[in-house]
Order: sequence, then C-alpha cells, then structure tokens
Amino acid sequence: MATSLLDATIKSPHPSFDHAFRADVLRGLAGRAKSIPARWLYDETGSEIFEEITQAPEYYPTRTETSLLRAHSADVVRQSGADAPVVEFGSGSSLKTRILLEHMPKTTYVPIDICGEFMEAACAELRARFPKLEILPVEGDFMQEVPLPSCVKSSDSAAPEALGFFPGSTIGNLLHAEAVDMLRAMHRTLGDGAWLLIGMDRAKEPDRLIAAYDDALGITAQFNLNLLTRINRELEGSIPINHFRHVARWNAERSRIEMHLEALHDVRFEVAGTPFTMVRGETIHTENCHKYTPQGMEELLAAGGWTTHSHWSDADGDYSLLLARACDPKCG
Ligand code: TRP
Repeated sequence: MATSLLDATIKSPHPSFDHAFRADVLRGLAGRAKSIPARWLYDETGSEIFEEITQAPEYYPTRTETSLLRAHSADVVRQSGADAPVVEFGSGSSLKTRILLEHMPKTTYVPIDICGEFMEAACAELRARFPKLEILPVEGDFMQEVPLPSCVKSSDSAAPEALGFFPGSTIGNLLHAEAVDMLRAMHRTLGDGAWLLIGMDRAKEPDRLIAAYDDALGITAQFNLNLLTRINRELEGSIPINHFRHVARWNAERSRIEMHLEALHDVRFEVAGTPFTMVRGETIHTENCHKYTPQGMEELLAAGGWTTHSHWSDADGDYSLLLARACDPKCG
C-alpha cells in the first residue's frame, strides 16, 4: 500500500495551528493599528499564489538569486562537502534547492515548511529527480528550534556538519529582533560548525521595489487578499473582500516594503463571532520585506551567531547570497 509522504512527515509538536490563527487574527484586528502575522498568508492557496509571484516580471529577487545559485553552488559545496545534510527553512516548492542538490545528489535533504500539503507535492517531484537523495520532511515553524531527524544532527563528531539553506530573502520578512532570534534558533537547530546559505535583498530605488511588490498582473494583490478569504473560510468571517485592496508601501525610515490591505469604504464585519469596524483608508498590515546594505547583512548574521565566509552579489548589486558558519559562542 502506498503511504503518503505526509504520513512520514514529522508533525509539529505544537498542537493546533487553528487556535493560534484565531488568536492572532482576533488580537491583530482589535488594536487601532491593525496587523496580522505574515505566516498566515501561506495556506495551500497562498503557497501556490506565492510561487506565481516569484515568476512575475517585476519580481527580480527570484531570478537574481537563481543566477547567483547557479554561479556559486559549486563553491558552496566545496566548503560544506557534498555529503552535508541540507536543511531548508521554509522550503515551499524547493525549486531553488534543486540547483544546490545537483552538486550533492546523494545527501540527506530535510525541508521544513509550515504547509505540509504543499511540501508533500514538492517532495514527490524531488524524489523523481534525485532518486539517491534521502528526503526527510518536517512540518513546522522554523522561528523556533526544530527537532531534526536523529541521523541529521548526530553526536558523532565525524558526521558532516549540516548546510542550512534559507533563500528568498525570507529573513527580510522579520523584524530585526525576530531575525536575530531566528538565526540563533537556526544555530541551535543545526549545531556548532554548521553552514548557512542565505539570500538577502538589497535596498534600492523605491520605484523598483514597489513594482516588485505590486505587480501589474495583480498576483501579489491576490496573494495578500487571500488572507481575508482564509479568515472568512476558517474563522467564520464575514469580511467584504471586494471592499479591500492590496497596497505596497516603501517605509524609508525602516528600509522596508510594507504590504497592507486597505479598506475602500467604512466596513463592519465579524470574525469568530467578534464584531469589527474599519473606516475608509484604514489598513491591516500583513507583511514587511526589509532591504539591507551589504554591511547590514553581515552584521545581522553576526548578531545571530553566524560568521560570513563568502558574500556574492550580481553585477547590478541588487541581491546578495551569503555563506556563513555557526561558531560556538567562544569564537566570537
Ligand atoms: N521574502 C521574499 C520577499 O520579501 C518573498 C516574499 C515574502 C514576498 N512575502 C512576500 C514577495 C509577499 C511578495 C509579496 O521578497
């Protein structure tokens, strides 16, 4: 009998995401400056639309990062070794990972993602493409230390150090303090001596940034608005979705793009039995995408316990790919 990949997936130790979703939404809508944590954008539909965003013509980060990976994966694997287990944080479709895995086709791959259904499909494709790869998916939230399969983080000092993979400038979706905490959690997840290959987007002209987060085809708008659909479906909401629009704003002071859902009229609705009102022009803040200077990136990594070994960028200086190493606290 065929077992679904999901059956083999290690489930998050946290009991139920539904209660957390409800609590986050009710809390986020209660205040005057409304916001909902970005992680809730990624249900199955959200994860699918997100993959489409990465193909949008205005969305340069994916293309640029993909070329950087093509150019430098061999260098990375020379440092980590071809048998280093690859642990990917927020694996999604695992498309970029293939570039790296071409250089290490027989290793162990541990994708970690919040969306088990989506990961299942991605893993099936990888299995077909890399038959010798051992794939051990873990469903979980990488903001915390994630328990890895014992064969990956072994106490045997001869075992190869893991190579963490965190592409897509996903780190930019966190506030500075959260990013530092997450980097430290990754250090604990992977252990001293582990490597981290991370992609980070650079600050640039606001017009290009805004276009990347508000594409002409409206894919990003659809991604953002899907959060309201999800609330209506999963939390018995009555939000009039067609009275909201997607907005991408550049916040220069904080060097970040902000995604908001703006009410086009005064609206009232309920979520899980609780009534809310919003006035025209009021927004729900749904995501931040921080943009860094090259120096800022290395400082952030250092604050999280990672020493930069290599720092690659494209000719236009749009994007960075960094390879860093977890040092034990003594090595500073
Ligand atoms: N982390 C990437 C970025 O900030 C991808 C991403 C996350 C994204 N959330 C998004 C892209 C929302 C567009 C819209 O660019």
